[in-house]
Amino acid sequence: MITNNIELVVDALKQGDCVGLPTETVYGLGANAFNKKAVEKIFSIKGRPKKNPLILHTHSLKEVKKLVKSISPIAHNLANFYWPGPLTILLNKSELVSDLITAGSSKVAIRIPNHPLFLEVLKSVDFPIAAPSANPYQRISPTSAQQVDEYFGDQLPYILEGGKADCGLESTIVGIEKNTILIYRQGGITIESLKKIHPNVEIVQSEKSTVVTSGMDLKHYAPQTKLLIVENINYFKKQNPHLNVGILDFKEIDNRLIAKDFYQKLYDLDKQNFDVIVTKKFKDKGIGKALNDKLNRASTK
Ligand code: TXA
Ligand code: MG
Repeated sequence: MITNNIELVVDALKQGDCVGLPTETVYGLGANAFNKKAVEKIFSIKGRPKKNPLILHTHSLKEVKKLVKSISPIAHNLANFYWPGPLTILLNKSELVSDLITAGSSKVAIRIPNHPLFLEVLKSVDFPIAAPSANPYQRISPTSAQQVDEYFGDQLPYILEGGKADCGLESTIVGIEKNTILIYRQGGITIESLKKIHPNVEIVQSEKSTVVTSGMDLKHYAPQTKLLIVENINYFKKQNPHLNVGILDFKEIDNRLIAKDFYQKLYDLDKQNFDVIVTKKFKDKGIGKALNDKLNRASTK
């Protein structure tokens, strides 16, 4: 059930339920990270394999410090600059964080989200909230409460209404190795922005990485309809008159606004039974780079 009543949602979390929560990136499927049964519910509702770890959300650096062994100077700078916001940082976990959360890794993924209602929820409980995006495994991430309801309505006691997600893409996930920031998943914070904080930034290629995140899977965020990236959409339509073609294009010029609508548009097109959805690449800079990464993973090769 979609609700505006934050107290109901907080009570459900305290009782070990799994609920839909708004964030500035995408909606999350949240539960008490210190309650094993609650965390297991996340995996089973989402249909997610246990080898795939979860992000912990909390409301302050003081709380983050309890969940990690230490915070390096670079991580500290990132936290100060971007939190609350769409950046997730991999840090060495403390004893408080279970192997169920990290899938056995010594590192835990943490972020302080920037959504007023989610922050209010986090301040009302005395545990961090584990939350993956609120979509069934490998489906498109939801950017509205309505979409979470369509995916999981009957399985969640509550979905907190928090409006349309402002960023529209998942958080950028980074780790720090020696003197370098490694990007494991592209998202709301751009590489250009990170480079202003610290000059050494690299995007990790999934094939070469020992850290594996589902955002690195080559097939991810996929619509069920075939998605093709083409050079010229009109030309494609002319060449394929027999096909019922859905078009994923954007009127806005600002890539930030495009990102906000991106998953929703893909999701809406996916429901319309087209033979194929076609789209074009974005300019490969800023948030356009993250959008191209999502397109690549969602498209049919
Ligand atoms: O914007 C977001 O990050 C959203 C909102 C709800 O906060 N959450 C989200 O979670 O996108 P999820 O689970 O859909 O994607 C998190 C990614 C997964 O690919 C997971 O494998 C990776 O983060 N991850 C989580 N913990 C990790 C860890 N300890 N080491 C490596 N990767 C990790
Ligand atoms: Mg996800």
